[in-house]
Amino acid sequence: MILMGVLYENIIRSFLFKMSPEQAHERGRHALMTLGAVPLACRFLQTLLQVKEDKPVQLFGLEFKNRVGLAAGMDKDGEFTRAVEALGFGHSEVGTVTPEGQPGNPTPRLFRYPEGEGLVNRMGFNNKGAAAMQARLAKHYPKGKRGMPVGVNIGKAKVTPLEHAVEDYLTGFRVLADQADYFTVNISSPNTEGLRDLQGAQYLRDLLTALQAENAKLARKLGREKHPMLLKIAPDLSYREIDGILEVLLELGFDGVIATNTTIARPPNFTGETSGGWSGGPFMRERSNAVINYIYRATNGALPIVGVGGVDSPESAGEKMDAGASMVQLYTGWVYRGPSLARDIAKALKAHGENWV
Ligand SMILES: Cc1cc2nc3c(=O)[nH]c(=O)nc-3n(C[C@H](O)[C@H](O)[C@H](O)COP(=O)(O)O)c2cc1C
Repeated sequence: MILMGVLYENIIRSFLFKMSPEQAHERGRHALMTLGAVPLACRFLQTLLQVKEDKPVQLFGLEFKNRVGLAAGMDKDGEFTRAVEALGFGHSEVGTVTPEGQPGNPTPRLFRYPEGEGLVNRMGFNNKGAAAMQARLAKHYPKGKRGMPVGVNIGKAKVTPLEHAVEDYLTGFRVLADQADYFTVNISSPNTEGLRDLQGAQYLRDLLTALQAENAKLARKLGREKHPMLLKIAPDLSYREIDGILEVLLELGFDGVIATNTTIARPPNFTGETSGGWSGGPFMRERSNAVINYIYRATNGALPIVGVGGVDSPESAGEKMDAGASMVQLYTGWVYRGPSLARDIAKALKAHGENWV
């Protein structure tokens, strides 16, 4: 797999980085959709790249083959989960999805900063809407069976005022309940005006209470377990604000927290785009590690943490696990390191697994 990494970083990446970041993303998206449509190729790659822990990782009532997932925002519409699985990930989080499709912010809205191994994005939840995602996932998995959990990350539309945000999240939940192995409530993207206010006491309890009530209602109706519910938070909160969030999550029986989304802060001496969220590299990593470690200590490990932010190597993933995460996700690291990264990390985490159970 070292060869695959070298090939990517020296040839494929140079080719992709000659395009605008969004063009490169589109190329990658199409390549992954094409791969996903060829079952034989997926099976071949999976044999080569999939790392399975000796015992599946049990979290939120689900089983994961390994501890590495694809973070939300890469597969916004659930179009290439089969390719993601073939490339060695143990789960994929699709979305953020809003009730109806929306175009997102005007371009350019995605920027590369190779010196900090980072990206700045202000995509603004461009997606095709909840019904389209439901139909696609149903088509890709006609028998309802898949080799890895797929989480659905739900959000609020740009046009929906904060006072009505609950309805958007409930719609996302209802429309995708038959396809989602877990749900992530995204209230932490910096690119939808006001969204992060949902992390505050004024809105948070009502939003999460309504979702859990709907979750319980559906579970009763179908005679099944409730969906695992996770909350994705920003790295720019004060510890006091995090305490407020944790209290609500524990009280309402949330299953875990995803820490963290992109940051509105910038590395020292940065002179690039000021609007949008920074992801990737050491700057993101340190910020999310601090939040993960705070949550782990504050809850005595009672709330499972999915660690995201600046994971781009086995070492950086190990730091997240040491900080208190039970699993990691990545996005920007994949852009800079290429397709063998999930396997390399999963393999390293498996080798050290006994330290993190
Ligand atoms: C271009 C881009 C789009 C993203 N879109 C979403 C999104 O729609 N929903 C979400 O919860 N996170 C989104 N994220 C945040 C990532 O899921 C992740 O939390 C963040 O980038 C930090 O991880 P990383 O350093 O590995 O990229 C996006 C990130 C990037 C770079």
